[in-house]
Amino acid sequence: MVESKQTQGMWGGRFAEGPDALFCAINDSLPVDWRLVQQDVRGSIAWARALGTVGVLSAEEVVTLVRGLERVSAEAAEMHAPPTESGAEDVHSWVEMRLVAMLGVLGKKLHTGRSRNDQVATDLRLWSMEAMDGLLAEVRSVQEALISLGEATVEVVICGYTHLQRAQPVSFAHWCLAYVEMLERDVARAAVARAGAAQCPLGCGALAGTAYPIDRDAIAAELGFDGICRNSLDAVSDRDFVVDALAFAAVCSVHLSRMAEDLIIYASQEFGFVEPDDGMASGSSLMPQKKNPDALELLRGKCGRLMAAHAAMLTTLKGLPLSYNKDLQEDKAILFGAVDELSLCLRIAARVVRGLKVNAERCREAARRGGTMATELADYLVSRGVPFREAHEQVGRIVRASIVSGLELDEMPMEVMREHAPAIGADAGQWLALSGALARRNAAGGTSPQQVRRALVEARRRTGASSPTSAEARGVHR
Ligand code: ARG
Repeated sequence: MVESKQTQGMWGGRFAEGPDALFCAINDSLPVDWRLVQQDVRGSIAWARALGTVGVLSAEEVVTLVRGLERVSAEAAEMHAPPTESGAEDVHSWVEMRLVAMLGVLGKKLHTGRSRNDQVATDLRLWSMEAMDGLLAEVRSVQEALISLGEATVEVVICGYTHLQRAQPVSFAHWCLAYVEMLERDVARAAVARAGAAQCPLGCGALAGTAYPIDRDAIAAELGFDGICRNSLDAVSDRDFVVDALAFAAVCSVHLSRMAEDLIIYASQEFGFVEPDDGMASGSSLMPQKKNPDALELLRGKCGRLMAAHAAMLTTLKGLPLSYNKDLQEDKAILFGAVDELSLCLRIAARVVRGLKVNAERCREAARRGGTMATELADYLVSRGVPFREAHEQVGRIVRASIVSGLELDEMPMEVMREHAPAIGADAGQWLALSGALARRNAAGGTSPQQVRRALVEARRRTGASSPTSAEARGVHR
């Protein structure tokens, strides 16, 4: 049995023996919750002031405690690793331990009316608010990269797919903007997660509230919260804000994985629409010709972990009785890991998009091959008075004939086309130009250059993304 002096110090009175080393291995959380040290100090300063306001501490004691806490903060900022040799069980114990070492008996007064239960919830909420702000900014930079790429590729026609079968031509910028939309919903989710975290639990004590007439609203305001947690039992056991943060992270990573998958496909030799820059790819140790889109594959791959983090937190919470239970200590490793992974993914995504080379020629070729103009031809027939269902049938026969003859729709001889669709006139060829196909999709949300340009301006305005970069700088091959 190994005794930890620290633990003895915190609740030694009740215990005849110190904790077992194996118990410490599962119980001690300092290596993980060390990341909360600055938040813990901030919360402690607010608590010291609150104790001063209600007369538990003298004005002088408050000043001394606040100075001491500031020194602890500076000391922590200098450290490169969690001070595990201190023997402190967690970050809260460590801060208090340092304070007592500096100030003696005064340091022992700080925990009056407070519990680590309201303390850790406060710290983690503060951390989560900052983390959501950081991630939100990183989502914005992926959007910025996509908008810039979009601005350079409005006129690049790419094949659009459904079922991964060639469907209709779209602007490459329209593809970019689709992901800007997904990420916009992620921004909203991050904001919801932040708002959920922005309620202050400090002053809820262990579970029942604090016995001192603390002005909890004042503490909340001082710490930058929007308000206070209304119920003390809920306050110390609620980790919904973590679930919300992880839900945002999971959905955002799903979006990034979808974008990655599109780009992995587009970067294959079969497609050749895009090429990631060398800095974001790797070669093969065996096959000299290989350039593998590893960064994109890892964006796709990391998603599994982020989805699992959300499930892990929900599973930890399921069936937990009120109020605080040590199970909740698991929240931090899950949240910190997910935030780190998502942050990396977002930075990678922005970087890959910025370095992407678009091969306009390959995109255009794909856009006009494989019958992508069939819908256009049907629409043309409709413009000549043919009911759409009949037009669909007639064009279907033309497509079959084109497959048999190995010709694209725009290469089919006029007489053959007229055999199946007598309404076809001399202007059909013009109608089948790619540019016309795009320009006609001009209703809101469509892929016409006019709509896409409008959407890009709108997206820049909405996301607050700064100035456009030029097409030349974007490396678009024409
Ligand atoms: N390290 C603990 C956690 O992360 C702090 C709260 C401890 N509370 C307790 N009653 N043991 O949850």
